Amino acid sequence: MGASGDEDSAHQHEVIGWLRRGILPVRFMYIGSGADQHIRFAEEYAEEYQDGRLGDETAAVLGGLGPAAVPAQLCDIGPSNGVHTAQFLEWFAAAHSGPVRYLGVDFSRRLLDAARERISRHASVEGSFAWWDVESGATAAVRGWRTGGPVLFCLLGNTLGNVEDPVRVLRNIFLSACPGDLLVLGLFGPVGQGKDEADAYRSPAIRSMVLQPLRTVGIPVDDLALDLRTVDDRVLGIVRLPKPVTIAGERLPAQHEIRCFLSRRYVPAVARQLLRHTGWRPLDTQTASRSGHFVVLGRRLAEMPDTAVRSAAARSAFLAHLARVSLMPPAGRSGPGR
Ligand SMILES: C[S@@+](CC[C@H](N)C(=O)[O-])C[C@H]1O[C@@H](n2cnc3c(N)ncnc32)[C@H](O)[C@@H]1O
Repeated sequence: MGASGDEDSAHQHEVIGWLRRGILPVRFMYIGSGADQHIRFAEEYAEEYQDGRLGDETAAVLGGLGPAAVPAQLCDIGPSNGVHTAQFLEWFAAAHSGPVRYLGVDFSRRLLDAARERISRHASVEGSFAWWDVESGATAAVRGWRTGGPVLFCLLGNTLGNVEDPVRVLRNIFLSACPGDLLVLGLFGPVGQGKDEADAYRSPAIRSMVLQPLRTVGIPVDDLALDLRTVDDRVLGIVRLPKPVTIAGERLPAQHEIRCFLSRRYVPAVARQLLRHTGWRPLDTQTASRSGHFVVLGRRLAEMPDTAVRSAAARSAFLAHLARVSLMPPAGRSGPGR
């Protein structure tokens, strides 16, 4: 069995456990044979990566720090196929006269390999790579890799919109970082009035990526209807099994519903509130009014604030509160950008 298959089988039981609960976290879309699709995507749809996000990201870093204070070590959480990372690194390397250090961390070992290959083309970048599930806990990989000075953490491309528990993820990054470290958070803005944000996901390529983890564990997906809908601040992808399926001895009944895709939208004020609650002081926000993409730069505080949302129950109440807030654009705003 090849590298993709190995990664698929390593997570098979975990995926089946989630399917039984009716939830498939988005991170499983990126492993094994799913990663192969993301790698192919980089070749087939190269122009889609010229999406203007880089301008917002670099403006937030420069706006919050100034050119002289950009750290020379970067921890990139979720480089995927490495295409956007390569764009960011081009700017990052040019912002320093000497060599820079890069640590790529990802849930997908297959994507880490792809990112390694792409990044090795940057002569002035010393690249390292480590596996990390940012949703499950902190990592020691950053402490083992870092040298003197602050680390610039990047969580870009609305990755925080895909996770089950964004508060937990920001806390896990806090716990893996040191006081004074920086976090660049790239997010997608709220659903546009009169627009269905789910439309952007209704393509055969995305359908195939979303359903790949189901296909991998042996669920026939050809006839599955993927219902993509916008609910409050989230785009959801839901399937319902037309007939019972037994996988690895586990029976999923007919009509069993699985939420297999999630993409939350944020507004800048809510993103800043999330950062403050998880130990990051917002320094600068850059908003691209055209696309709705925005970037917040935060600096890690010395201590997790007392207000930190620590228990799972309190976190979900807090997120529900933020979701309600996010549906109400601030006064004077002409409407969400996307
Ligand atoms: C939306 S892509 C972002 C890619 C790139 N950073 C960009 O801005 O275009 C999400 C990336 O995060 C990774 N990822 C998703 N969930 C993760 C998790 N729980 N832990 C670590 N990495 C995760 C995925 O494997 C993928 O590489």
